[in-house]
Amino acid sequence: MFPFLNNNKEEIQLDEKNIPKHIAIIMDGNGRWASKRALPKKAGHKAGAQTLEKISQAAIDLGVQHLTVYAFSTENWKRSEQEIKGIMDLLREYLKNYIEQAKKDNVRVHIIGDISPLDMDIQKRILELEELTKQKTGMNLHIALNYGGRDELLRAIRKISRAVAEGKYQAEEIGEKELEQYLDTANVPDPELLIRTSGEERISNFLLWQIAYSEFCFTEKLWPDFTENDLKQAIYQYQNRERRFGGRK
Ligand code: IPE
Ligand code: IPE
Ligand code: MG
Repeated sequence: MFPFLNNNKEEIQLDEKNIPKHIAIIMDGNGRWASKRALPKKAGHKAGAQTLEKISQAAIDLGVQHLTVYAFSTENWKRSEQEIKGIMDLLREYLKNYIEQAKKDNVRVHIIGDISPLDMDIQKRILELEELTKQKTGMNLHIALNYGGRDELLRAIRKISRAVAEGKYQAEEIGEKELEQYLDTANVPDPELLIRTSGEERISNFLLWQIAYSEFCFTEKLWPDFTENDLKQAIYQYQNRERRFGGRK
């Protein structure tokens, strides 16, 4: 039984048999959350990191198998040096502290995106966290860092072009399955549900290939204010959508 409260404060139950296997979240609104409180941006990102821990726990409790969260995009380098440094410092702390929590919660962590421009110590911590959790059999938490959907596709196309040049494939043999093996999300099912907080209704270069048939749920809540109940509301919306995949019911 997964009860939650709808906007009229009525208790509703989720259909336990129809929980998305994969939920993707664009965690947006940290900056506005901080501005509303006259706090520096970093305070918003810190509050956002705490929300991520809460929402991961909620996803585990619901039996979600994959949770993919957008933490830093290939476009976020346009922000001030000070804000980027704040985010990177929080990331260091999060990666370090999350090891124990992931072990306890049986969570396997994967990072998607191109981590090569990140500071060496952060790259090392990422590899360590992935290594230390790789035997975990519970939820998979995919954190998108220096991730862009276009960048991911370009990296995949480069790799696949090399494979063709080396004679591994004929160009005609490349289908969806083959291309998917070269994406950062290889072997991960596409997200059934994509949530974006903060009222913005755009994709901002997230998972362009993978969301071809995802259901979108946009909420006005700023990410640091997003709760377990909001997650359940989004899943409820998903459960009441008719997914047709181009066919007819
Ligand atoms: C999302 O929050 C976190 C990152 C992009 C790193 P924002 O920082 O974009 O928050 P707003 O959109 O300015 O409120
Ligand atoms: C998307 O949010 C990226 C992350 C949440 C990490 P942005 O705040 O960067 O997106 P735009 O600029 O509003 O499209
Ligand atoms: Mg934003």
